Amino acid sequence: MARFLFLCFLFSIIVSQAKAGDAFSCDNSRGNYTTNSIYDNNLKTVLSSFSSHTEINYGFYNFSNGQDPDKAYAIGVCRGDVEPNDCRRNLNNSIGYLREQCPNQKEAIVWGGDNTLWYSNRSIFGIVETSPTKYLILTRDASDADQYEEALSNLMTNLTEKAASGDSRRKYDAHSVSDGNFGIIYGYVLCMPDLSSQQCNDCLLQTISEIPLCCNGKMGGNILKPSCRIRFDPYRFFNSTIVLDPNATPPEPPSLPTSPSTTNSTSSGHNKIRTVIATAVPVATVFLFLIFICIYLRFRKLKQMVEAGNGEYDDGDGDEDEDEISIVESFQFNFDTIRVATSDFSDSNKLGQGGFGVVYRGKLPNGQMIAVKRLLKDSSQGDVEFKNEVLLVAKLQHRNLVRLLGFSLEGTERLLIYEFVTNKSLDYFIFDPIRKAQLNWQKRYDIIRGIARGLLYLHEDSRLRIIHRDIKASNILLDNEMNPKIADFGLARLFVIDQTQGNTNRIVGTYGYMAPEYAMHGQFSVKSDVFSFGVLILEIITGHKNSTNIGHGNDAEYLLSYVWKSWREGKAINTIDPSLNNVSANEIMRCIHIGLLCIQENVVERPTMASVALMLNSNSLTLSIPSKPAYFYGSGTRSLQDMQLWAGHIDSTTSSESKNTASNTDPYPR
Ligand SMILES: *[C@@H]1O[C@H](CO)[C@@H](O)[C@H](O)[C@H]1NC(C)=O
Ligand SMILES: *[C@@H]1O[C@H](CO)[C@@H](O)[C@H](O)[C@H]1NC(C)=O
Ligand SMILES: *[C@@H]1O[C@H](CO)[C@@H](O)[C@H](O)[C@H]1NC(C)=O
Ligand SMILES: *[C@@H]1O[C@H](CO)[C@@H](O)[C@H](O)[C@H]1NC(C)=O
Ligand SMILES: *[C@@H]1O[C@H](CO)[C@@H](O)[C@H](O)[C@H]1NC(C)=O
Ligand SMILES: *[C@@H]1O[C@H](CO)[C@@H](O)[C@H](O)[C@H]1NC(C)=O
Ligand SMILES: *[C@@H]1O[C@H](CO)[C@@H](O)[C@H](O)[C@H]1NC(C)=O
Repeated sequence: MARFLFLCFLFSIIVSQAKAGDAFSCDNSRGNYTTNSIYDNNLKTVLSSFSSHTEINYGFYNFSNGQDPDKAYAIGVCRGDVEPNDCRRNLNNSIGYLREQCPNQKEAIVWGGDNTLWYSNRSIFGIVETSPTKYLILTRDASDADQYEEALSNLMTNLTEKAASGDSRRKYDAHSVSDGNFGIIYGYVLCMPDLSSQQCNDCLLQTISEIPLCCNGKMGGNILKPSCRIRFDPYRFFNSTIVLDPNATPPEPPSLPTSPSTTNSTSSGHNKIRTVIATAVPVATVFLFLIFICIYLRFRKLKQMVEAGNGEYDDGDGDEDEDEISIVESFQFNFDTIRVATSDFSDSNKLGQGGFGVVYRGKLPNGQMIAVKRLLKDSSQGDVEFKNEVLLVAKLQHRNLVRLLGFSLEGTERLLIYEFVTNKSLDYFIFDPIRKAQLNWQKRYDIIRGIARGLLYLHEDSRLRIIHRDIKASNILLDNEMNPKIADFGLARLFVIDQTQGNTNRIVGTYGYMAPEYAMHGQFSVKSDVFSFGVLILEIITGHKNSTNIGHGNDAEYLLSYVWKSWREGKAINTIDPSLNNVSANEIMRCIHIGLLCIQENVVERPTMASVALMLNSNSLTLSIPSKPAYFYGSGTRSLQDMQLWAGHIDSTTSSESKNTASNTDPYPR
């Protein structure tokens, strides 16, 4: 099914009319026009001239019309395998679509499946414009990423050379190559033909260099820029290139207005096209029917996903994930937009403060709610590295992760823009005597499993293999259905922290949740996250903070010791939050058991998140006996606070950030 949907998607790209879902960009920064203004009329004329220039048989239309300052410039270009008539028709569709999407922006661009249309009130001929960029990704991993990347890069480099050497009618090349395994990579590159060879080369090389950013190890991707675009896929999606007459000199571009003149060569082209159309019409009817089915199936699937409360990833069926295709928008937000959205970072919009900076609520002009994290100044990382890291982190998408929408830069200001998660963080509920009643066992169990899935994704399923390093209740946000979303992942990457060997002299974590090897020696690994997760499980079940005493007088102990001792004595049931009313006691006991396995002192004995997820999903799996947890010192011979001091002392280089983190509970992603 997934494969079929995927083919449908490819198919709809191949059929490639401009349609809902085509990437486009309305430029809000270059001015607006009103209907029937001079510019509007100039633009209409220029765009309608595409269709009338039937003598153009090389798929490139660049025209301008009118006088400054209302002159309109437009470029339309088709892939080199598109017949002239199809090209004009598809461009006409793109025109209709773009005018609908960007009804009053002077500059706009749409990337149809096999054509690009771009217009503006500035001269866009012969210039290299590499932003905005859109990525369209086939999120299926290549089986051998390294080999794939190498073959792909080879292919793209060769294509670039060929395309750049094209004349002013066409700068395009398409080819395929073995992926180094058992498959084939199909790819094409295209420049606006009015660019010089050097310009085309530059634009394409820059675009190709972004493959690792958008599409690392993925089997398919489109990178779309105004002046050039590339695509690769494991399926053939283009026809053989239409040969241009090498002797025909690239024509002088016709000026407007023109009466279309017909030459001998184009009229023979017409006949050919007519026969193609004659055969194509019945075929097209069948295709239309197929498209209809495709659209219907996609919609149905979307609907199912929505109904199941699923986000981007449906972890019920791994196969479905792979074929999911997502559009990654450009991630950079205008600083002033964000400033306005947060009422100039006003205190009334402040959601919280944490180690990495202050978090504000904001509302974008389109009404979308966002959470904005204003990062502490940290000048040691350059803008480019920062952007690259944000792009990487933004690619991590999972329904149990708070989504990073983008970033904004201005001077020394750095902002991270997140989706807004409606409810507050987990600690707001579980540690509050009244609000904890809103979380019955079923909800808490779902939350535990959701966090496990999110962590598993970070550790193993995402290509970045992120160690979170600060899993705690205040970093788990709840949406309006109380689904958990992990916040703050990947942030360590945005700061310059020595990550070699997983050793760090800068601890970014919260005492009490930190595994001892990390707190004391700065050694982090996926197992230090597992430890924090174990602490979190115990907090969720007991409704008790790990950092405060549990019990009274001489029996006062810290949570981990308390639960461990109770479990050893066969009294773990006493540790369960009374507000859970002992419903599903077996399930709860099993979760306590899993929690204890996670907090074992011995790093090797702690399970991986993959095993944890397995244990949580299968009740029949036998659990091993946990050994002594970290931070267990008999009956309180050494308190956790001592440990904290000690850890703080050892780690003399601990920055103010980590101290903040340690002392803060923070209701929002930081
Ligand atoms: C395009 O329009 C904008 C806004 O109306 C104007 O500021 C700009 O100067 C125009 N560009 C040209 C080249 O006329
Ligand atoms: C142009 O119009 C769009 C909405 O159609 C708006 O978002 C944008 O701010 C406007 N730009 C200017 C410069 O007025
Ligand atoms: C171009 O598309 C418009 C609708 O967007 C249609 O009315 C018009 O007839 C088309 N022109 C040609 C030449 O196909
Ligand atoms: C690229 O070109 C080089 C030399 O022209 C050739 O050896 C290589 O096989 C080509 N690679 C691909 C993927 O076509
Ligand atoms: C179209 O592009 C060519 C360069 O290929 C440029 O010389 C020409 O001026 C452009 N056409 C128009 C109408 O300006
Ligand atoms: C290839 O060309 C044929 C005939 O013109 C057309 O039906 C088909 O859709 C084209 N395929 C692609 C991938 O463009
Ligand atoms: C067009 O073709 C006719 C015969 O088919 C020929 O007599 C004429 O010279 C040709 N015209 C041009 C411009 O090539």
